[in-house]
Amino acid sequence: MATEPGGRPDRPRRLRRTPALRDWVAESGLAVRQLVFPIFVRPGRGPPESVPSMPGVERRSVEDAVRLATAAVDDGIGAVLFFGLPRHKDAFGREASAPDGAVPRAVRATKDARPGAIVATDVCLCAYTSHGHCGVLRNGEVDNDATLPLLARVALVHARAGADVVAPSAMMDHQVAAIRSRLDAEGFSHTAILAYAAKYASAFYGPFREAADSAPAVGDRRGYQLDPRNAREALREIATDLEEGADIAMVKPALPSLDVLARARSRFDAPLAAYQVSGEYAMIKAAAARGWVDEPAIVRESLGAIHRAGADLIVTYFARAVAAWERGEP
Ligand code: PBG
Repeated sequence: MATEPGGRPDRPRRLRRTPALRDWVAESGLAVRQLVFPIFVRPGRGPPESVPSMPGVERRSVEDAVRLATAAVDDGIGAVLFFGLPRHKDAFGREASAPDGAVPRAVRATKDARPGAIVATDVCLCAYTSHGHCGVLRNGEVDNDATLPLLARVALVHARAGADVVAPSAMMDHQVAAIRSRLDAEGFSHTAILAYAAKYASAFYGPFREAADSAPAVGDRRGYQLDPRNAREALREIATDLEEGADIAMVKPALPSLDVLARARSRFDAPLAAYQVSGEYAMIKAAAARGWVDEPAIVRESLGAIHRAGADLIVTYFARAVAAWERGEP
């Protein structure tokens, strides 16, 4: 037996013997305050509408969305992130910047109810355009520069409603710069930008597109979102967004991008976020419903891995469930 004295002194199991020892030397620990909870808000009244591919996630009226947001804040979750649906879609996604749209109303009411809460909003056009693309089309292609002022206007409307953080997810080049300069010009230099900087063209967004009714009617998003074969390109995107004024850079999807997160962590000092997206959620829910995996355990392990890889903040549909498990509730 190769034991000391004279043998190998390294016995890693010594510090794994008891829960206290394991906690004592744990290298990372994700806190509930580091989670961000996405909420889908729709115009009109009526009960929450379930999303079949995302059990437990619902599209809510403003009133219900605000109730959910305040509950999440009271759970100690760091921030809520609103996604909106419009009454009508059009080619330019006009309703995305309507001051009385579902998102600005939800932001205002949440900030009224919980002034200290961090309220973030998704800034994109895809749920608002008739064609489902994240920008406006010209000759069948997404026109980058024609989209920038529209995104900047959406961000401004959200900031005026009281959003603390705007999160542009359209993957248009220079969207962060366009939003930053518009916000600054209008007196919102204090509004932070959480940039979806490294957002892959991913099959993991499928269930979200059902929730937000935002699937592209023709084509796909590979003309603007990152090619999953590329990691260095993701780092260039993050660098560009931080130079343009992003306060936080986000990587998504999360679990399939741990290499990118780890490399980004060692290269950049800005806060990093990761989005555990709808497909990651749906896979866990589906397997757990069949009893094939232990839901709380697999969620903790997944979020822990994303955090260990380098994410300071994690957007997750499991945020409220995690908070409940932390309180010892089932
Ligand atoms: C909007 C947007 C998407 C997601 C966040 N913002 C979908 C997409 O790009 O098609 C995905 C989130 C998820 O899957 O949970 N552009």
